[in-house]
Amino acid sequence: MREYLEIEGGYPLKGEIPISGAKNAVLPALAATLLAPGTYRFTNWPRLLDLYTMLELLSHLGARIESRGPVLEVDTVSAEGVEAPYELVRRMRASILVLGPLTARFGRARVALPGGCPIGKRPVDFHLRGLERLGARIEIRHGYILARAEDGLSGAEIVFDVPSVTATENLLMAATLARGKTEIRNAAREPEVVFLGEMLRAMGARIEGLGTDHLVIYGRSELEPPREPLRIIPDRIEAGTYLMLPGITGGEITLAGVEPAHLETPILRLKEAGLEIEAEGDRLYARARRPLSPLKIVTAPYPGFPTDLQAQIMVLLTQAEGLSLITESLFEERFHHVFELRRMGAEIELDERTAIVRGPVRLQGAEVEANDLRASACLVLAALGAEGVSRIYGLEHLDRGYEKIEAKLSALGAKIVRKSYEGHQAFGPCGAGPRD
Ligand code: UD1
Repeated sequence: MREYLEIEGGYPLKGEIPISGAKNAVLPALAATLLAPGTYRFTNWPRLLDLYTMLELLSHLGARIESRGPVLEVDTVSAEGVEAPYELVRRMRASILVLGPLTARFGRARVALPGGCPIGKRPVDFHLRGLERLGARIEIRHGYILARAEDGLSGAEIVFDVPSVTATENLLMAATLARGKTEIRNAAREPEVVFLGEMLRAMGARIEGLGTDHLVIYGRSELEPPREPLRIIPDRIEAGTYLMLPGITGGEITLAGVEPAHLETPILRLKEAGLEIEAEGDRLYARARRPLSPLKIVTAPYPGFPTDLQAQIMVLLTQAEGLSLITESLFEERFHHVFELRRMGAEIELDERTAIVRGPVRLQGAEVEANDLRASACLVLAALGAEGVSRIYGLEHLDRGYEKIEAKLSALGAKIVRKSYEGHQAFGPCGAGPRD
């Protein structure tokens, strides 16, 4: 049985949405549990498909997982496996995050090579070159990355061509157990990287420069699990997605349990478009002033405008008066949603990496399907603002990154229900590829 969301759009939404723990923070944090045997505890962890995939991978490696009420407990005392099988990596490319910890701790790892579809080539060369710089020998055999460092890793200087989030995380983790000093230049500065760095510090690692593009790590011979449970930081992408709602559906919303500082750029840009947004502690209050103004957006690594909100802001800009330009600078093929939005009446042209959005248009409900996580979220937003009924297929993507989406939206007054149907997985050119 497969599922779709049926949404009757056109109703203003009003109320409060609790924001979940961040998918992109919990995944590296779970991978980091492989660096030292012991018991790790996490709170504010999101119940997401990607998290369950990572837990499956950890238990495949020998870890024991238990959820005790609000606490997720991971015991890595008997986690001695070193192989991440294709079956799991194909479901979630972030599985590559175990490569650094396994190589650093056990001196070897065998991790399936992630594919490239569906939002661009998405190579892993930075991860591999970085590990080579740390002294690992890397081979690609039969679709698997084989990493070997029998005598352990040694500190080195690593420079990225462009900042990569998971490559920074992988090498940061590996460097904590390497001999001597490692420097990572042009490192990613995302809050999720900082969160991982803080976890590693709580495990005994010595790291300088967190939150900057120059990380310095002094390796240790061993680490230990943090003494206190770790609270997963709020999901800034989930929060940013819902923050668009007042501009798309009208009404007013409050996001609860957010970190407004992590959303500085999206908040600034949404204010320019005409949203009124106020922050108070860990809450954000938003409503929209119509008509919305068009924007020029270029996605960039943090603290720039996140590529993971590109699809969602495109929906908002279909409601702005005039021409908006959205340039995707990270992932060359992250525009699949444009074709679906057009089917809902949006007027969007593509010029290589730039989408030209003409607004305002009244979106119309339609049957649509997305092939990646954020594109599916954008279709939900579009359906909520559209006239009539939409059906959104491909929920296996949405469920990877949005916890209880229909419950959260129903609480705001949205008419949204999940339904089942008999069907098969779509296998287009990118249909079954791994997602962000
Ligand atoms: C992470 C996020 C994803 C987000 C992306 C960009 C996680 C689990 N996923 O993905 O949600 O969309 O950051 O913010 O945190 N690159 C290379 N070679 C490499 C690695 C990356 O050329 O080895 C390039 C990529 O093609 C891309 C850029 O670097 O153009 C940044 O991508 P990267 O930050 O690595 O994305 P992910 O870490 O995969």
